[in-house]
Amino acid sequence: MEQNEVILSVRDLEVQFTLRGQTLTAIRGISLDLLRGESLAIVGESGSGKSVFTKSFMGMLDNNGHVSGGSILYKGQDLAKYTSSAEWRKIRGHEIAMVFQDPMTSLNPLKTVGRQIQEAVELHQGLKGRAARQKTIEYLTDVGIPAPEKRYRQYPHEFSGGMRQRAVIATAMACNPEILICDEPTTALDVTIQAQIIELLRDMQKKYHLTIIYITHDLGVVAKVADRVAVMYAGDIIEIGTSYEIFYHARHPYTWALLSSLPQLGVKGEPLFSIQGTPPNLFKAIEGDAFAPRNPYALKIDYLIRPPYFELSPTHKVRSWLEDPRAPETAPPDTVQRMMARGREAADRV
Ligand SMILES: Nc1ncnc2c1ncn2[C@@H]1O[C@H](COP(=O)(O)OP(=O)(O)O)[C@@H](O)[C@H]1O
Ligand SMILES: [Mg+2]
Repeated sequence: MEQNEVILSVRDLEVQFTLRGQTLTAIRGISLDLLRGESLAIVGESGSGKSVFTKSFMGMLDNNGHVSGGSILYKGQDLAKYTSSAEWRKIRGHEIAMVFQDPMTSLNPLKTVGRQIQEAVELHQGLKGRAARQKTIEYLTDVGIPAPEKRYRQYPHEFSGGMRQRAVIATAMACNPEILICDEPTTALDVTIQAQIIELLRDMQKKYHLTIIYITHDLGVVAKVADRVAVMYAGDIIEIGTSYEIFYHARHPYTWALLSSLPQLGVKGEPLFSIQGTPPNLFKAIEGDAFAPRNPYALKIDYLIRPPYFELSPTHKVRSWLEDPRAPETAPPDTVQRMMARGREAADRV
């Protein structure tokens, strides 16, 4: 396997929605290369565009939305130009599959779990009858569903939340996709089950050589699974790097704010550096750095000109004027600095 082979290449992507005659720009010029076999986490507050971004490469945008600029290259095709459901059917499931927060949105309550997985096996792997059933039982076993023969005949409502999510993952695996997008896959589950599902996804990634995108607002989840982390704010990736770079060398004040809200930092409750204010109104054109009004470190220029990316390493880049040589020296808040220092020490000991 070639290292750093790009499997999906997004350039200058813009996505807009029309709402009551007004236009909202949800994705504001994202470029990203997804590498084959990696697990990339996309983090950011609710409403930052994580779901819209990934739905745009599955043809799953709501009807009032469309790709209004840029390209999404996958296997020589520009998915941004796809318009018909016939085109998308070749991609969705078969090439790129998705696991959502709520398993009930993916499972049909009127069909047995076994039948649903088997339909995917039949459609995507060309198996029939006994062979398809056999393969389905294998997937149920793979995803850790006990008594698979019995579970095969049951309906989604007879499964617990965690077991349902396992069934959804089995269905996704049965489609044999190259890329798996997991949109808040564990948010609806309780903590112990969350950990199990994350572990299962890691196992599936190894076994089936998947490229995975994890969408989450929970940086804690990210630490365990991601090779790289992309931080989104107001429809843009404002910092991206390896997990190590984002956790221990983050440079964007918004990333610092996210890091400071990690539970392990919340000594006696309150985080010391919470994000004040609200995200910008996406119906209006955004001048400068979208985060500026909430950024205690903002410079004058942040209100005027959108920052370019500054490259901090071949894998780490950040959209922040603080990296400009003319900007004053700026250090992260104390809590974040301490966390980063501890993390670096721990990582260096390994
Ligand atoms: N169908 C839609 N119509 C109008 N606005 C939408 C629609 N879907 C999403 N948006 C807007 O796009 C932005 C990004 O949403 P989303 O990707 O769901 O955020 P996230 O997944 O990060 O929580 C939000 O401002 C949201 O309100
Ligand atoms: Mg979302």
